[in-house]
Amino acid sequence: MEPKRQRLNRRGLLGAAGGAAALGAVGAGAAALGRGSDETEPAAAPATTVPFHGAHQAGITDDAPSQAVLLALDVNDDVDADRLAAVMRLLSDDAARLTQGEAALADADPELAAEPALLTVTFGFGLDLLDRLGLSVPAGAGPLPAFSVDRLEDAWSGGDLLIQVCGEGDLALSHAIRMLVKDSRSFAGVRWAQRGFRQRPAGGGTPRNVLGQIDGTSNPDPGSADGGEAIWFGPEAGALAGGTVMAVRRMRTGLDRWDRLDAVGKDRVIGRRIADGAPLTGEAEDDPVDLDAREDSGLPVIPTNAHVRRAIEAGETILRRSYNYDDGPGPDGESDTGLVFIAYQADIGQFIAIQEHLAEADLLNDYAVPIGSAVFVLPPGCEEGGWIGQGLFA
Ligand code: HEM
Repeated sequence: MEPKRQRLNRRGLLGAAGGAAALGAVGAGAAALGRGSDETEPAAAPATTVPFHGAHQAGITDDAPSQAVLLALDVNDDVDADRLAAVMRLLSDDAARLTQGEAALADADPELAAEPALLTVTFGFGLDLLDRLGLSVPAGAGPLPAFSVDRLEDAWSGGDLLIQVCGEGDLALSHAIRMLVKDSRSFAGVRWAQRGFRQRPAGGGTPRNVLGQIDGTSNPDPGSADGGEAIWFGPEAGALAGGTVMAVRRMRTGLDRWDRLDAVGKDRVIGRRIADGAPLTGEAEDDPVDLDAREDSGLPVIPTNAHVRRAIEAGETILRRSYNYDDGPGPDGESDTGLVFIAYQADIGQFIAIQEHLAEADLLNDYAVPIGSAVFVLPPGCEEGGWIGQGLFA
């Protein structure tokens, strides 16, 4: 059966106002930029804030800005649910302030908070922590099985509390992280930190990843009923409805190996053209992927093990919002690059189905290896005066 799918590019994400409060501000900023070309109307300043409060947490369906830092904290063993609730109140309050350009409560350098540059802060809880504190784990969340392609390193895996910070300003990000880590220092230690970047093409459109591929073309539309269902926990999740489960996979890319492929080889690995992101069966990036198309020879145009074919044939939908990393080169000149691959879904089974299908046979497996893995339950957003995770502790 043909899986239900929607296609949405970055323009589409900006326009899909339904659901995420955050989209309003980002969309308004983009629209204001567009109006700037009309000389009769003075250009409104682009938005620099993304609302913190809303039905869903910010930093999930809003247009991904250029920088991200993911922090996974390990919560001290003596911390109970009441203490965690108190910390979440503090963290949420400071995150709300910082994302709106206000200083955190105990901010030693309040000036650094003045320009948030589309800063978002998103919180999530590791499954072990929820278990340990007797807090409810929604049915859609669960651990990942071991995949045959995994080469996981502890240094990039697991964690009790996720703090995802995204934005356009390096200084705003650095300041926000400093404040939030300060808030949490007495109850948790940093397990890992992963920094990622994306570069928007000057003319707009979908960014490229470190392998040079146009990455992020096909994603569900969060504003549609099907898209929303694919991303957010439904009413059966009770107080967690409107939340989501996040998979973070650190994928190391073998660039030296990748460099040995010519353009045709690279196209075939993905099933889309490296030049313009169009499927091998189409002309433009947004053209549908035709898995049935055949060459005169009878062979499929999109190879049997091409990444997009394997991903589509798994029959599930996830929201991908990944970042690149580059921690190299090392002393030997070897690159250390890859993707901080991030997927949000209503049920971790959606991710597992795709990852299993890719692990079985995906030409990309020769060039990208999972070296880190973590799953977090992201509660819904909160209203002003509330805090993230409140429903969990009720
Ligand atoms: C370094 C690792 C990876 C790279 C470089 C990569 C790259 C790409 C590229 C270039 C595309 C085509 C353009 C697009 O639609 O965005 C794509 C599509 C896709 N990828 Fe990946 N990917 C990686 C890992 C993964 C993983 C781990 C999963 C899930 C387990 C995944 C799931 C998908 C899905 C669902 C699509 C959309 C297929 C469609 O509907 O056309 N990818 N990926």
